[in-house]
Amino acid sequence: MSKKKVSPGKKIEGVVELPGDKSISHRYAILGALAEGPTEISNYASAADCRSTLECLGRLGVAIKSKERFARIEGAGLSGLASPRRALDAGNSGTTIRLLTGVLAGQSFNSTITGDKSLRRRPMRRILDPLSAMGAEIAAQDGGLAPLEIHGRALHGVEYKLPVASAQVKSAILLAGLFADGETSVCEPVCTRDHLEIALREFGAAVQAAKGVVRVTPRPRLQGRALMVPGDLSSAVFFIGAALVLPGSQVIIHNVGLNPTRSRVLDVLISMGAPIHVAALQMRDGELVGDLSIGHAVLSGGEISGPQVAELIDELPMLAALGPFTEQGIIIRDAKELRVKESDRITALAESLRAMGAQVEEFPDGLHVGGRSCGRLCGAKIDPRGDHRIAMAMAIAALGAEGDSVILDADCASISFPEFFPTLERLVEH
Ligand code: S3P
Repeated sequence: MSKKKVSPGKKIEGVVELPGDKSISHRYAILGALAEGPTEISNYASAADCRSTLECLGRLGVAIKSKERFARIEGAGLSGLASPRRALDAGNSGTTIRLLTGVLAGQSFNSTITGDKSLRRRPMRRILDPLSAMGAEIAAQDGGLAPLEIHGRALHGVEYKLPVASAQVKSAILLAGLFADGETSVCEPVCTRDHLEIALREFGAAVQAAKGVVRVTPRPRLQGRALMVPGDLSSAVFFIGAALVLPGSQVIIHNVGLNPTRSRVLDVLISMGAPIHVAALQMRDGELVGDLSIGHAVLSGGEISGPQVAELIDELPMLAALGPFTEQGIIIRDAKELRVKESDRITALAESLRAMGAQVEEFPDGLHVGGRSCGRLCGAKIDPRGDHRIAMAMAIAALGAEGDSVILDADCASISFPEFFPTLERLVEH
């Protein structure tokens, strides 16, 4: 277990370019594998999760060359995947297991996909139900857990209404829909990240999206191509958080993905008083990209609840950890999905913030973190429970605390952002 000491910071200052977006990288790799001809992906995420996707695709017979932030995938074509010799390992990655299960359900071979201890505890019934409605045959462990044994077979199109907003589930169904015998549509309660829909169009598939319903036409001819992954906004949020914790800070982040289905976190922070400015907006490969500049301000704080929760689900750990630095504190409600992420993020945040002296009330669907009037945080030993976003959010809170903190198992940050601690050390003045 790697420990990381985080000392209080004075300010954060400088310019960063972040590794590629995790969600987009997974999708480009999967579609590249199903396309005809080569796909070259620049700024491919350095996240361990996205390596898991490449490794699984390799075991399905796809030729892949990857180096640093670049991946070249020789497309196998829609019918070109090969039966894997042993179980596929999705590691810690929910996106890998759920999206690939959608692809594997419609193959002409059987396969098994599993993951690490955390992934084997996460709910898979949410993909098993819609995929079964398409004719898939998938055996799970008790409680609908991985490993999943997938008996590949012919699928039919479905009209599916998502009971819980989830881009992973939507994407698993749409990917299975590529192999079905008719149109597939997914109706979502909140418009979740639409990177798959955008990428499918970029590869040449027909996808319609209107009024909360996304439709995909089966058996498209996907054409390999060159693509550039924008920087990951969910990673950028930790540096935005650091600037908001430390007075006198000024950070510029270049080439960040600003897709409107992902940028709600910026709206929320700006509405709480964060000095965030967007420049150099452009569309690249169907995705909105731009530069962010962030200064320091004391945020008002407030409540985050309702439909917006699904739109900033991955940013909630950072928002909660900003609570003690705000005037009124932060209240998060309607977020019980946080309990089935890489860890139970509600309990992990409540316990970590309490260890630093914050006042926290835990609810079944969220938490209330007291603001500045509850006193300054003090350094503490933090166990992030193997959860990358908890480790990074608490490291930022530790910058604003009195006294040193220690983040246990800090290496878990590499699940999404291996460069996190070195980048933070480069930019923070102590
Ligand atoms: C993701 C969707 C979200 C998010 C996860 C990545 C994706 O999960 O939390 O980090 O790439 O589709 P859910 O679909 O479970 O909300």
